[in-house]
Amino acid sequence: MDISCRICGGPVKAAVDLGSHPRGNAFPKPGDTSDEFFFPLVVGMCDSCTMVQLMADIPQEVRYHDEYPYHASNSVVHSRHFEGIAERFLETELTGPDPFIAEIGSNDGVMLARIARAGVRHLGIEPSRQVAEMSRARGVQVLSRFFDESAAEPIRAEHGPADVIFGANVIAHIAHLASVLKGARQLLGPRGVFVFEEPYLGSVVEQTAFDILYDEHSFVFSVRAIRAAAELYGLELVDVEHVELHGGSMRYTLAKPGAREIRPAVGEWLAREEAQRLGEHATLEEFARRAARVRDDLNSLLRSLRAEGKTIAGYGAPAKITTVTNYCGIGPDTVPFVCDSTPSKQGRLVAGSHIPVVSPEVFAANPPDYAILFAWNHAGEIMRKEREFAERGGRWILYVPEVHVV
Ligand code: TMP
Ligand code: ZN
Repeated sequence: MDISCRICGGPVKAAVDLGSHPRGNAFPKPGDTSDEFFFPLVVGMCDSCTMVQLMADIPQEVRYHDEYPYHASNSVVHSRHFEGIAERFLETELTGPDPFIAEIGSNDGVMLARIARAGVRHLGIEPSRQVAEMSRARGVQVLSRFFDESAAEPIRAEHGPADVIFGANVIAHIAHLASVLKGARQLLGPRGVFVFEEPYLGSVVEQTAFDILYDEHSFVFSVRAIRAAAELYGLELVDVEHVELHGGSMRYTLAKPGAREIRPAVGEWLAREEAQRLGEHATLEEFARRAARVRDDLNSLLRSLRAEGKTIAGYGAPAKITTVTNYCGIGPDTVPFVCDSTPSKQGRLVAGSHIPVVSPEVFAANPPDYAILFAWNHAGEIMRKEREFAERGGRWILYVPEVHVV
């Protein structure tokens, strides 16, 4: 079953089929799991523009609901990262008279709070109510809505053209990306830039990070596909920069055609993607086979640990945990709990696999023999924080890029 590409209309053929999955960030309450929403987690690639995309259509209102539980400020490393981005914008793009920056999906305001402190005009565009409230409490101005073509005109009328439009870990979530690109073009000033960073297909493939695939990730971007998408909607890809976040992300800078010099990094990364065969269907199919191997390895490790009578728990309940546990068939019989520092996830269950989410204090009070690090992209920060666990003989299980114990 092919679909039409959400960007160019070309044919998208399925390449990776992880089976039936619930929403990554659903986190149902115990006793509230009878009507969980499941969809086929199948990802395909467009034959024409190579954009990697989810085959299923999932209404965005069911994803970014008022209690959307992801808080970008939860990680110290991420907070610093986003403050650093704000500072870079303040020193580069926002130095003119009365500059203006808009952020799509500003979440809890981790980036814009720094901009607000500098007294620079800004606007967060964030449909999820709870996180929007959190950012307002930090002095950030927020518009509660989804960003698309129809949002650009009223925002421009009220605030003027944008010097910067920013988005982090949100643009690849938006199925109506075409409309976002049109809206960005409308909102940008003549020399303005649209900057966004998202998990990078090259890193996902290289590390077999199949858990990056879940309902919210409508797309997994590559430089080649973003360059094509920009061109189709009247923008130009002028710079790319690889960043370490989320196991390997790419930051893309788009501008109006001819407004900015195209940096050499664009050509360099296009060449790397060519060498990696990133735009080829066969590469994704091979990735799917490696994912199945990781699943089998993880299951056999967990089986033998259980046979030895070892206790196992999970650490971190990112949306990714929903994909791994449901794809591998890991439930509370094997992993009786997972801890996560996000209060709104605690007391809830991982969707589908129904592993209870508890606080890190519960983990500390009941240290298992083995902890599966589901928040593997925060390994450095978490292992530093939980040094005591390892010092007392606890071992970490990681499954990216392959199953290993440290
Ligand atoms: P993310 O990979 O999407 O950023 O999500 C990381 C999850 O891990 C998030 O739910 C918060 C959780 N977490 C902890 O529980 N403890 C930590 O020290 C860190 C950094 C994250
Ligand atoms: Zn396409």
